[in-house]
Formats: sequence, C-alpha cells, structure tokens
Amino acid sequence: MKKYGVNELRQMFLDFMESKGHLVMKSFSLVPQGDKSLLLINAGMAPLKPYFTGAEIPPRTRVSTCQKCIRTGDIENVGKTARHGTFFEMLGNFSFGDYFKKEAIHWSWEFLTEVVGLDANRLYPSVYLEDDEAFDIWNKEIGIPADRIFRFGKEDNFWEHGAGPCGPCSEIYYDRGEKYDPEGLGEKLFFEEMENDRYIEVWNVVFSQYDCNPAIDRKEYKELPQKNIDTGKGLERLVSIIQGGETNFDTDLFLPIIHATEKLANVSYEENKMAYRVIADHIRTVTFALADGAMFDNAGRGYVLRRILRRAVRYGKQIGIEKAFMYDLVPLVCDMMKDFYDYLPEKQDFISTMVKKEEE
Ligand code: GLY
Repeated sequence: MKKYGVNELRQMFLDFMESKGHLVMKSFSLVPQGDKSLLLINAGMAPLKPYFTGAEIPPRTRVSTCQKCIRTGDIENVGKTARHGTFFEMLGNFSFGDYFKKEAIHWSWEFLTEVVGLDANRLYPSVYLEDDEAFDIWNKEIGIPADRIFRFGKEDNFWEHGAGPCGPCSEIYYDRGEKYDPEGLGEKLFFEEMENDRYIEVWNVVFSQYDCNPAIDRKEYKELPQKNIDTGKGLERLVSIIQGGETNFDTDLFLPIIHATEKLANVSYEENKMAYRVIADHIRTVTFALADGAMFDNAGRGYVLRRILRRAVRYGKQIGIEKAFMYDLVPLVCDMMKDFYDYLPEKQDFISTMVKKEEE
C-alpha cells in the first residue's frame, strides 16, 4: 500500500466521490448557522441537516465534503488513546433521497480496497442487528464471508448525535494486527472491547431514515420523508493506517507540530507523549475555531475554547514551558493546512494575537 500524505488522501476521496456524481462542497464553518442544538459543528452531516429533513433543497442530491469538526465530549481521552482528538476532519458522501444502501456500501469498498489499496482481508463490516438488506449486500454482492460480518445493536450500529437525522448504520473496521492486541484476543475484541487499538473503525455508512428529537423525554423517531445516506470517516484515522502511525498523532498531520513544540520544551516527546499530543490537538482546534469567527469567552462556545486553551497551557507546564507558547504554533498549523483551507494564512496574525492575549 502506498503511504499517501494527508493532502493527497483528502483529494483522492473528494475526486472519487465527484466521479460518482457528487457535488464537492467546501467545508462549512465550525460555527453552526441556524442550528441552536450545537455550539460547534460536530459531524460531517451537521451543516447539512436541512437537506436531510427536506426543509431546504440541496444544490445536488449527491454531495461530498471534507468537514471540519470539533467534539469535546471525550476531551479527557485526548493524548491517552490512539485516536481521540477534539478537532478532526470528517470525509463524507451524502445522498438526499438519491442512492441508498447498495451504492453507499459498494463505493465504500471500492474506495478503500481499489483506490487506497487497503488489504480486503483486514476489513470487517458490521451491520445493525436486524438489517438483513445491508448484510446481504456485504455477503452476496461484495463477497465477504458471513462469519466476518458482525451484527451489533443500537449502542454500536445506530448513529445519532444530538437532534436531527439518524438511523441504523454499517461500519467498516480495519485490523491493524496482533501488535495492537497484546492479549491475543483477536475477533473477540469486537465483543469485549469495542474501543480497542487493533480494530479501528474507518468508515461509517448511516442509513438516515429518521429524525430524532432528544428534547422529548422518551426519544421519538419520526420517519423522514426520504431515505438518505450520511457517511463519516475520520481523515486522521485513515491517514494513520495508511502511514503506519502508532496513533493519529504519529502522522504528517501532527508530527511537525510536535517537533516544533519540542524546541520550546525541556522534556522530549518520547518522555511525555500525552502532553505533546494534547498541545498538538488543542492548537488545531483553537486555530480553526478562531479562523471561523469563534472567540474565547466566559460562556457557551467561547468557554469551550477557553477551557481547551487552558488545558493545553497546563500540559505545556508539564514539559517545562512556562511562558506563552501556543500562539507561536499558530503559523505552523496555518501553513500545514493551507493547501485545503486557503483562507488560513490571511487570518493567522489575528489568531496568533488572540491566542497570545488569552494565554497571558
Ligand atoms: N455522521 C456519520 C458519522 O459521523 O460517522
């Protein structure tokens, strides 16, 4: 398998989806527009909710994006695990009442095995318990043996995030091998520890058939007027598998930030990986959020950002950095990401100034 760089891989995905008739749209702002249920965009589908529900007409019934996302629910795990991060890019292809299960599953397989070149024998699909239709597509059309397709319940194979479109899903896991399975549990890990470092979820196809209103105590699912497809695959995970990184952080997305931080510290990355990973993750989050118009504050979205910056500064102290330093990493983040997010360079001085002020 070729070790693609992040910029190459992102573009390969968007080009592939364009060849399947999708309109490639730019990432939407991290600051939600007209969605009071979210402080920050947390999934590729989030800015597209009105197209799923039929409230707005999409520019095309097939859309593909690489969407900037921020999720802070698992912030304590950032740096501890291989894959948690507060800022990530979500690759997505979406159908608004256009194609459904068959095409979405076939294209996921084609991209992973033929375009990227992942070994098909290392890929395991899962489906929602009762979803025989998705099971049969994997088994009879793609040719995956029945004993390699797992059926999971609502906890694992039903996607919903706050309010909005949701539904049963089919996921694809990649087996990173025995190195990441010290107890030799093999496929048992799927049932004993869904969050493990051996089998990594690389693709999620959601069959968005319902609308969920969490404000109603007893969760109520309404059938949507049309059947949709919502997919999500974290770019950082794919990059780490393709580049053979032990974690998402050991890739070209994070290592330059980690090495730049090492120059400011008196403890090395090897000696305190957690601190470096927290700092590298959090500076990306803050840089992208400020670039999209969010600001540090004492409440709401701004408070989330304030806490993230303070957390990074605390970890900076662990590696011997006493003075303001996060602001100094902003130009590097902007430079690393500017090929796809071309607006970053013009905002970099402003972001840097705001971060410095906040740190001080
Ligand atoms: N919306 C599907 C996902 O984020 O996995």
